[in-house]
Amino acid sequence: MPATIVVGAQWGDEGKGKVVDWAAERADLVARYGGGDNAGHTVTVGGERFALHLIPSGILYPGKLCLMGSGMVVNPTRLVAELDGLAAREVDVSPDRLKLSTGAHLILPYHIALDGAQEAGRGKQAIGTTKRGIGPAYTDKSARVGLRAGSMYDPENFSEKVYQAVTGKNTLLTRVYEQPALDAKAIAVEFHDYARRLAPYLADVSLIANQALEADQHLLCEGAQGTLLDLNHGTYPFVTSSSPTSGGALTGLGFGPRHVTQVIGVAKAYTTRVGAGPFVTELLDETGDRLRGTGAHPWDEFGTTTGRPRRCGWLDAVILRYAARVNGLTHLALTKLDILSGFETLKIAVAYDHEGQRLTHLPLDAAVLAACQPIYEELPGWSEDIRDARSLDDLPAAAQHYVARIEELVGVPVTLVSVGPGREQTIVC
Ligand code: IMP
Repeated sequence: MPATIVVGAQWGDEGKGKVVDWAAERADLVARYGGGDNAGHTVTVGGERFALHLIPSGILYPGKLCLMGSGMVVNPTRLVAELDGLAAREVDVSPDRLKLSTGAHLILPYHIALDGAQEAGRGKQAIGTTKRGIGPAYTDKSARVGLRAGSMYDPENFSEKVYQAVTGKNTLLTRVYEQPALDAKAIAVEFHDYARRLAPYLADVSLIANQALEADQHLLCEGAQGTLLDLNHGTYPFVTSSSPTSGGALTGLGFGPRHVTQVIGVAKAYTTRVGAGPFVTELLDETGDRLRGTGAHPWDEFGTTTGRPRRCGWLDAVILRYAARVNGLTHLALTKLDILSGFETLKIAVAYDHEGQRLTHLPLDAAVLAACQPIYEELPGWSEDIRDARSLDDLPAAAQHYVARIEELVGVPVTLVSVGPGREQTIVC
């Protein structure tokens, strides 16, 4: 019966992988519902660090069934590499444990080439995409010309379809974007192999999810990216091309809202963003540099997928209230609280100033948002290292107060606080 949805409450990179990993213990199935290998979910288990881009984080828990929904766009090259990488580290990635929806769309090399060419063509208006072909793959899906995973059931026919598709897109690449043509024959051969390799994983994921829910099993839906990158509800056009919000879980997996019992919004204790677009609480000073770190530690603010430095800023309660609204959040999970140790004071944006007007709701127009200034509330910081805290009482009073104030400002209970990358560095409130 119960389905739990975990969504990013900011611009992605909130630490969803760790929260999903924590929640997976109580789940029977773990499912990714949207996006592709633009995501990078990092989970640390027993000191070992795993970076997953396509396969649900639940794969690290033996015995959980993992689903990849039809809302996803899947690059077969990347999926095969991820399967091999996990298998080499003795994670069971057999088709018994992982199911790929026949309805998921495939990312082909021309999507990646087009992503790069289109970004270059945008000049100063570039979105800062991950260049993984995500936008062009969803464009083909919407235009009803995409290749779906289900076509890999028949490798011969699939290979022919790939050949035709590459040949067709070569016209676009060479004539419109003045890019080199791709080798259609070589790609068709390569994708023939992927089809043989991936066909055993293909399944009707909606059927599996619904049968499990009817049998009272617990389905955990793992969001990728974040609320403000949502195609419908994010800071358009600086968004991704999928629906990372909770509604995307229903359409991306194919089950109904009556099953959803919990929607957990994951938020960092501060804010980050990669790529272009408005970011009201961004800190372009030493404080921002300090939040980012130098890149020496795996938890420093550099992208798991692209290695790009993330833009950093103070926590923004306006954004979190918006995320609570559009996702119907029932809980908040606050991550990376440990990174705030050592700041004398902390700031939280409680509203925006837009040309002298106080805004308490997120403006939907990117240009208006870009012209907003944060109205901050200052809170006392703490100097203690909190990485060993295992209950709220273990936290210094100022850290407890920070968490409580977020709860008040957002109107959603904080039920989990993460104080480090390890599974055990988690406070359940
Ligand atoms: P795309 O998804 O590669 O098309 O990129 C569109 C925007 O979403 C860019 O600003 C990316 O940096 C951002 N983005 C996409 N995936 C992620 C993610 O997993 N974490 C953070 N930002 C992301």
